[in-house]
Amino acid sequence: MKIAVVGFGMMGRQIAQVFAQHGNEVAVTDENKQALTTGIDESANGPYGVRAAVAKGKLTQEEGAQTLRAIRTATTIEDACQGANLVIEAVFEDLRLKQGVLRRLEEVAPHDALLASNTSTLGITKIASTLSNKERVLGMHFFNPAQVTKLVEIVKGELTSSSAIQEATKIVQMIGKTPIVARDEPGFVANRLGLTLYMEASRLLEEDIASIRDIDQAMKLGYNHPLGPFETADLVGLDTRLRNLEALYEQTGDEKWVPPKVLREMVNQGYLGDATRRAGSRGGYYTYLGAKPR
Ligand SMILES: NC(=O)c1ccc[n+]([C@@H]2O[C@H](COP(=O)([O-])OP(=O)(O)OC[C@H]3O[C@@H](n4cnc5c(N)ncnc54)[C@H](O)[C@@H]3O)[C@@H](O)[C@H]2O)c1
Repeated sequence: MKIAVVGFGMMGRQIAQVFAQHGNEVAVTDENKQALTTGIDESANGPYGVRAAVAKGKLTQEEGAQTLRAIRTATTIEDACQGANLVIEAVFEDLRLKQGVLRRLEEVAPHDALLASNTSTLGITKIASTLSNKERVLGMHFFNPAQVTKLVEIVKGELTSSSAIQEATKIVQMIGKTPIVARDEPGFVANRLGLTLYMEASRLLEEDIASIRDIDQAMKLGYNHPLGPFETADLVGLDTRLRNLEALYEQTGDEKWVPPKVLREMVNQGYLGDATRRAGSRGGYYTYLGAKPR
């Protein structure tokens, strides 16, 4: 299959690599040209990149080399979309921006291509609202790091066709992931659960009930989560997390999603999460609060 990925940041890179590893041709584009260079380097040498996958025996040398050959950078959306069967947008979590990107995709992508958004919290129906054909627009929500997480949420907007959902389900299975299908409600399934945990963890911290390290340990050792809620937030990116909560609050009006003050402070001061994964970040929760994970 031919896949186009628009927005080659943290998630776009991971998604492109997953499709390339499964024998698809992937064209990637980003409005920030530097992101294209950095992204290709990360696909090769990043913590979950091709080199690491070969070292762990998950890919052979030849499969690794083929994966990198299968990712092509394009300087325009139009070029990236040439002949695409599926276009996935992974630009910033901003409704107007995504609506604009989708409008452009409607103009330049093949008329039978599926148009998918990797949004975590914005409504698919809203993202598609200004298009003339909304039936082929759906959510395809990958989880960070997409090279190793098995879940993809497929989100059905109000006007998404059943055939688009079926096609997306098959594509997700083809890349070795397990799809779940969710209705287009704020947070879908996984983020509504994940952000609920994060909000409660933030309240525990605010109320000084336990240290950040111990709150993370509680979920890792007590519930076998691979990462605690703060470690997860650092991995996801604190700016992304802030935008996710703002989007949920805006859509639901429910005060339970009002972002924690400390999160906003961190983002304002440039603490955007794990500095090894987030270019330009001063660090995440552990750096900001001067704690170290055990
Ligand atoms: N970070 C996560 O863990 C995570 C997990 C699942 C889903 N998501 C979702 O994925 C999307 C991207 O998140 P991210 O963390 O990869 O963000 P990011 O900031 O790392 O990357 C976004 C990229 O989009 C590019 N971009 C912005 N406007 C563009 C445009 N008009 N055309 C082309 N490129 C453009 C930016 O230059 C940037 O490189 C968001 O919708 C987010 O909610 C994020």
